[in-house]
Amino acid sequence: MDDTNITSLKTGFDATMATARAFMESRAILTAVELDLFTAVCEGSSASSVAHKIGTDPRATEMLMNVLVTQGLLKKAEDRYALTPVAEKYLTSTSPDSARDAIMHTVGLWNSWSTLTAAVRAGTSVAKRRRNAEETEAFIAAMHRNSLERASVVAGALGIARYRNMLDVGGGSGGYSITFARMNPALRSVVFDLGPVTRIARRHIKDAGVADRVSVKRGDFHSDPFGNGFDLVFLSAICHMNGPEENRSLFRKAFAALQPGGDLVIHDHILNADKTAPKAGVLFALNMLVNTAAGNSYSEEEYHAWLKETGFSRIRSVPLPGATGLVVGTR
Ligand SMILES: C[S@@+](CC[C@H](N)C(=O)[O-])C[C@H]1O[C@@H](n2cnc3c(N)ncnc32)[C@H](O)[C@@H]1O
Repeated sequence: MDDTNITSLKTGFDATMATARAFMESRAILTAVELDLFTAVCEGSSASSVAHKIGTDPRATEMLMNVLVTQGLLKKAEDRYALTPVAEKYLTSTSPDSARDAIMHTVGLWNSWSTLTAAVRAGTSVAKRRRNAEETEAFIAAMHRNSLERASVVAGALGIARYRNMLDVGGGSGGYSITFARMNPALRSVVFDLGPVTRIARRHIKDAGVADRVSVKRGDFHSDPFGNGFDLVFLSAICHMNGPEENRSLFRKAFAALQPGGDLVIHDHILNADKTAPKAGVLFALNMLVNTAAGNSYSEEEYHAWLKETGFSRIRSVPLPGATGLVVGTR
């Protein structure tokens, strides 16, 4: 092997080692968020004053805070700390833009990802799968954050102004229905979800002032009826939780719920044919392996085939900027 090949192998190995150790950086942030450390830091705080506020050990807290300095989340001068603008805006629980609830969902994912080896052996999730009330709040907070970032992009790509009557299956916080209803004053939407989540959705819908057009229906999308007469059935971040047979069954229910000419829209990670890209979606498949019985990230080809066999026509993919895309079929 010549010198150039040896150098490039070494570079590749170094990058692999950095990825293998990336959990250290991740864990430091997750622990700081879990302890709500950022909220306890004021301009000029010492590590021991922060430790006192959050009930932790002063020496260990200083070690953690020094790492947060290297990550650009805290500043340090002498032995005094302060928040950086990013930490102040997003990581304190008192900020109006706080992402702490949403990051608490990632704290929970740490536990399920720790079972990955066992899940790969078993072929399915071996982690605890029922969320308690606090975990449900964190999960839906994370979904809500995503939806507020993505909904206007999705609405623009779909041409949301064409629709009048939408069923938002597994609609979560209602974030998509709320944004779509704001962008299209003629749209009515039903957010269909499980009981504990519909309570959260009601809160968001009321706060957004669209309760006259966005309603909530509690139910299980596997077993409860959808109703009918919709011109849009929206499945956002739903198909990845299911196995192929469950998705075929959902598509049949969606078909029956649509009026002729209505659209089923799938919004999700859409993989290439050999399931090696885009990377975010490929990694997300493992998130479904550790957290669900049969979930996965599916390819464009799989979605198109399921829609075709259900009876949909004009089956098309609508790429979006960012990690996720749309697949649409018309009844
Ligand atoms: C990943 S979240 C997506 C939420 C929302 N569609 C979005 O994109 O923000 C999945 C949603 O499906 C709901 N869900 C899961 N299983 C369900 C079921 N069997 N019946 C109804 N809703 C379900 C969850 O409660 C959650 O709100």
